[in-house]
Amino acid sequence: MKITVINGTEKHGVTYTLKEIFLEPFKDSAEITEFYLPKDLPGFCCGCIQCIGKDKSLCKDFQYTQKIEKALLEADLLVFTSPAYVMHATGAMKAMLDHYGYMWMPHRPAKEMFGKRAMIITQCLGAGEKSTAKDIKDSLSWWGITYIRTAGFKLMSEVRWDKIPQKKKDAITSSLQKAAARFKAIDYSKPARTGISAKAKFYMVRMLQTGLGKDNPEYTDFKYWKGNGWTGKVRPWK
Ligand SMILES: Cc1cc2nc3c(=O)[nH]c(=O)nc-3n(C[C@H](O)[C@H](O)[C@H](O)COP(=O)(O)O)c2cc1C
Repeated sequence: MKITVINGTEKHGVTYTLKEIFLEPFKDSAEITEFYLPKDLPGFCCGCIQCIGKDKSLCKDFQYTQKIEKALLEADLLVFTSPAYVMHATGAMKAMLDHYGYMWMPHRPAKEMFGKRAMIITQCLGAGEKSTAKDIKDSLSWWGITYIRTAGFKLMSEVRWDKIPQKKKDAITSSLQKAAARFKAIDYSKPARTGISAKAKFYMVRMLQTGLGKDNPEYTDFKYWKGNGWTGKVRPWK
């Protein structure tokens, strides 16, 4: 199986430690590809809209985005991690997600996403682990993923792993090990079920694209939907 990890920070701190605990049971069998932000996608979206309007290859950061997208699409399991920075995902994570606006359902979602599984790991000192996970989940669900699990932690006392009380560290470790065991038990030869929310988004956009296509059959997103057969009988899920 293949796992692609998007680390929202380059620091080998608490977030990194939590991710390592989660990945541990997969290390002997899975092919794990990791990206560290901002190193592996250092630019910001400049709002040129070329990716949405014309083609993703026109992005000034395409040399970075294409590598990450390939790894995302090839993976059976996606893992996203981020500490809470002022109650939200790190700026580097947000900048990464901005680059994939074209993969949102109203534009050109990748059919591979509809059967994928994802895990989001977040932590904070006292508040913000949930809103941080939501920042990431918003994109993943609009990419078409239904099977998204989150593990969020409040450290409470300390932001250095070695200084956190042992009892707290044990509770966090146990929670992540249980989550990893659930993911390990999955049969990845079968795609995840596409849920009602993803299907509702799909049908809403299908209607929108059909209308837009009547006005302008050369519209980029419409051509993509039509090319995939989605304005007809084909669906991106099995
Ligand atoms: C710029 C910045 C903003 C932060 N904002 C919050 C916050 O809003 N809420 C919170 O509980 N912790 C906050 N923290 C603490 C982090 O969420 C995290 O617990 C800490 O940075 C340790 O994680 P790390 O070792 O993975 O970097 C912040 C840390 C930084 C550096």
